[in-house]
Amino acid sequence: MGKMRLALIAGGTSGEREVSLKGAAEVARALDRERYEVIRYDPATDLARLAADAPGLDVAFILLHGLHGEDGTMQGFLDLLSIPYQGSGVLGSALAMDKNLAKTLYRLHGLPVADWEMAGPADLEDPGRILDRLRLPLVIKPVRQGSSIGMSVVRKAEELVPALETAFAHDAEVMVEEFVRGREITVGVLGNRELEPLPVVEIIPDSRFEFFDYEAKYQPGATREVCPADIDTRLRDRAWQYALSAHRALHLRGYSRTDMIISGDELYLLETNTIPGMTPTSLLPQAAAEAGYSFPVLLDRLIELALAAE
Ligand SMILES: Nc1ncnc2c1ncn2[C@@H]1O[C@H](COP(=O)(O)OP(=O)(O)O)[C@@H](O)[C@H]1O
Ligand SMILES: [Mg+2]
Repeated sequence: MGKMRLALIAGGTSGEREVSLKGAAEVARALDRERYEVIRYDPATDLARLAADAPGLDVAFILLHGLHGEDGTMQGFLDLLSIPYQGSGVLGSALAMDKNLAKTLYRLHGLPVADWEMAGPADLEDPGRILDRLRLPLVIKPVRQGSSIGMSVVRKAEELVPALETAFAHDAEVMVEEFVRGREITVGVLGNRELEPLPVVEIIPDSRFEFFDYEAKYQPGATREVCPADIDTRLRDRAWQYALSAHRALHLRGYSRTDMIISGDELYLLETNTIPGMTPTSLLPQAAAEAGYSFPVLLDRLIELALAAE
C-alpha cells in the first residue's frame, strides 16, 4: 500500500491560532513518514486549495481549537468533501463547543454541574438578577471559547458587570457559573463504539494563578500535572464513568477530554473538549502515554478511528 495522503489542518482565525500552529508542528514531527504524506492547510488562506485537493486526500487531521475548527464548521466542510477526519462530527463538535448546551445535556443525563445562568444585555444594567440566583464567587465565561479566553472569576458583587463586559467582547452569549472550589482533573476518552477511559490527570496551577487561565495553560512550568492522579479508585471510577457519559451525551466520536472539579465527595463537569491540545506534553497525550500509547501511536490510533467511523 502506498502512503496515506493526510491533510493536516491548522492555524485558522480563532483566538487559539498560535496554540493550533504549535500543536501542528508537533503532530507533523511525530507522524510516521513511512505511513503518511503530510500536506498542510491553514483555513485562514487555504480552503479553496483543500477543496481542490480533496479527491486525492485519504484523511484529515484537524488541529484547530475554538470557533471555525472545533465547532463543527470544518467538520461539515470535510463531510461535504468526503474526507474522513479524526474526532467528532458536526453535531457533537457543535454541542461540545457550546458550554451552555453541553451543560444542559450533562444535566439531562444526571451528571453534576455547577449552577449557572445565561447572562443577557439587561444584566449589564442591573446585575441584581444574577446575584440573587447564584452565590459568589462566580465564573463568567463566553459560551463558545476555549483556553480560558474572556473568562474571569468574580469574588465581589461590583466586579460582575466589568467581567460580563469582558466576556461579551468575546461572544454574544455569556454564562455565569458558581465557582467550584476543589482539585481540578481532566479525563480523556478514546474510541468510537467501544470507549476506553484514559488515566485521570490532575492539574495543579501554581498558587499565583486564580484558576487554570491562559497563562497557566501555556506558560512553561506554570502548571504541574500529575498522571495518574492521586485519587482513590472509587473517585477514579466515577470520573471515568462521567467522562464516558459526557462523551455519549454529546454524541462525540474518536476521542474527547472532559474537565472536572472534585469538590467534597462529588465531581462537577465543566466542559468537554473535542480537539484537545496535541503536543506530546498536552493533557490528553500525557494520559494516553500513561495508558501505553506513545504520541505517534496515539496519532495512528486517532487516524485509524477516523477511517473506521460510520
Ligand atoms: N465553575 C468553575 N469553578 C471553578 N473554576 C472554574 C469553573 N469554571 C472554570 N473554571 C476554571 O477555568 C478553567 C477554564 O474553564 P473551562 O470551562 O474548562 O473552559 P476552557 O478550558 O474552554 O477555557 C478551568 O480549567 C478551571 O480552572
Ligand atoms: Mg477547559
